[in-house]
Order: sequence, then C-alpha cells, then structure tokens
Amino acid sequence: MKIAFFDAKDYEIPWFTREGDKNGIEFKFFETKLCEDTAELARGFDGVCVFVNDEVNAAVIEKLYGFGIRVVALRCAGYNNVALEHCFGKIHVFRVPAYSPYAVAEHTAALLLASVRRIHKAYNRTKDFNFSLNGLMGFDLHGKTVGVVGTGKIGRIFIEICKGLGMRVLAYDKFPGKEEGFRYVGLGELLEQSDVISLHCPLTEETYHLIGEEAIGQMKKGVVLLNTSRGALIDAEALLDGIKRRVIGAACLDVYEEESDLFFRDFSGHIVDDDVLARLISMPNVIVTSHQAFLTEEALSNIAETTVQNLVAFFSDKPCENELCYRCGRIEDCKKQRSGKCF
Ligand code: NAI
Repeated sequence: MKIAFFDAKDYEIPWFTREGDKNGIEFKFFETKLCEDTAELARGFDGVCVFVNDEVNAAVIEKLYGFGIRVVALRCAGYNNVALEHCFGKIHVFRVPAYSPYAVAEHTAALLLASVRRIHKAYNRTKDFNFSLNGLMGFDLHGKTVGVVGTGKIGRIFIEICKGLGMRVLAYDKFPGKEEGFRYVGLGELLEQSDVISLHCPLTEETYHLIGEEAIGQMKKGVVLLNTSRGALIDAEALLDGIKRRVIGAACLDVYEEESDLFFRDFSGHIVDDDVLARLISMPNVIVTSHQAFLTEEALSNIAETTVQNLVAFFSDKPCENELCYRCGRIEDCKKQRSGKCF
C-alpha cells in the first residue's frame, strides 16, 4: 500500500521507513504540507499521512475522496485540523492517541524550570564568558501553587512532576476524574490562586482563546503561563498585553496560534511578518519552542508504530480503536457498532 506522507521531516523519515518496510506500507515523503493546493500530490496513493499543521478541511477531503483515497492517518493525537464532519461515509480517520505523554509533560517541566531559574538567559551569558548573576534571580517552585487545566494523560503526568517538586496542585477539567493528590476547582479559582498555570486540554470551540483578556485579568500578578497543548487556547495578543502590563511574569509556549506557517521550518535570515510572535520572542521572560514537546526517541518510535498499525488495520478491514468516529459525535469513545468501524 502506498501512502502520501505530508510535511515530512528528516527526523521522522527513518522511523516510518523502517516501520513501513516491516508491514508492507510504502511511504512517499513530501516536504510540503497538505492543503487544497497540494492535495493533488496524493493522486494515485492509497492513503495520506498528516501531522498537526496539515489542512484537512472540507475542500481537501473532497479532493482526496475524488482520488479514491479512503484513509487519513494522523501521526499525532490532536485532530483539530481535520474537518471530521465531512469525512463521514467517505474517509476513515485514524490518530495516535498517546505516544509518550511523558515526552510532553517532561518538556513542560523543562520549560517551567528553565523559565523560573532563567536558564535560557544564563546559557547565552556563559557562552559569552559573561559570568554575572545580575538579573538571574529566580524563585523556588517548592510550596507554590500550580493550576493544571486538563487532567488527561499529559496533565496527570505533569501533576506528578509538580508534586515531586513540592508544589500544591489545583486542577480544572470539564470532565473531572479521580483526585490523586490534587484538588479540582472551578477555572476562576484556579486562575486566581495559581502561581503557575499549565494548559493540557484539547483545542475545541469551547476552549478556543480560553486564556484571553478576561482570564488574564483574573490571574495572580507574576504568574507563569505554560502552553504545550494547542496555540489557540491562548489569545496571543491578550498574552502580549498581559506581559507588557506585568501581570504575566513569564510565558513558555511550545505552541502558537499562528504556528502553521512558521513552525517546523528554518526562518533564520528571513524577515518574519508575524509581529505578535516577534514581540513575544523578544521578551526576556518568554520562551518559545516550536511544537517540540513530543520530540523524543520513544515518542517517535511509538508514533511510527501506531500509525503503521492503524493503516494495516484499515487495509486489512479490521476494527481499530484509534479510528475517530464522527457518526455519533462521541469522537473518541464511540462503540463503533458497525463491525467496529465508524461507517
Ligand atoms: P487527553 O485527552 O488525555 O486529556 C485531555 C483532558 O482535557 C481530558 O481530561 C479532558 O476531559 C479535558 N478537557 C476536555 N475539554 C476540556 C475543557 N473544555 N476544559 C478543560 N478540560 C477539558 O489528552 P492528552 O494526551 O493529555 O493531550 C492533551 C493535549 O496536548 C492534546 O489535546 C494536544 O493538543 C496536546 N499535545 C501537544 C503535543 C506537543 O508536542 N506540544 C503533543 C501531544 C499532545
């Protein structure tokens, strides 16, 4: 089976090639992202494989369907870039629900520690043999309150790390689970009480700009805001304003609302047009990584393995729990009565 693999990066090609070879799946790697203009490249293939910033909107789905393509394999957990409602009856969509929640939770912790101990500043200084400590004052995380929004796989691991640091943990989730050494509170209380706020919920219509002017207005002065989930959870302009007004003490962003045209590519030596991102990056108390939180050897190995297994299940007509179901609306936990498939 031949799969058109969009937005391919050097670091993932060996993993997918190896896993595909073992299972009779041949990947053709395209550097370009999937969008309406590039969908034509998928003609003649049996399926497509996409990542977080590929555009799988209604127009793209129609084109793929017209080419006879019946499967889209997401090699990521989030699926906000896929117009699922247009897929029903046409294209089956699979994802990799979990590949290493540790990778993302640990990256979040790395950002937090780097930020509060000014490691990003110190690293640059000592490279220049500047051993001054002025301006590098941090604060202890021990005893501070962290507010975690979204207590799923990643959120819970991050909570464990924070507990290990001796932090008090508050959490907010639309669908609260078991309280394990932390306390669920309303979002308002979390915003008001937290010294550190970390976002681990999905991007949905409801969570779009969850952190905007109003939410920032409720936060403690000096709060550290972490986002390793999805960029549009935060209104970036409101964030910038909050930083300028000294409400937000630091921001660590692995994701950014307008990242799709920028992240995963090298723009050094270019003029970047995004003024909000440029201003955020210029701030001494902002750390930006470019959607890197998932990038560990363990995660890539799991991503390649699960993506290929999803494709194998589809082509051998077997049910697969990683298929997203859009028929009943319960996208992730549908029982898939019809021979275990969405349609
Ligand atoms: P998960 O599905 O295990 O957990 C998500 C949690 O958010 C659930 O407990 C759910 O009840 C909660 N939630 C849903 N709607 C909510 C709302 N309106 N308000 C508050 N909470 C809500 O997902 P997981 O694996 O923990 O991933 C979390 C997010 O991390 C993903 O949605 C994805 O966007 C992001 N992610 C980022 C990566 C990166 O490289 N930066 C890599 C992988 C995931």
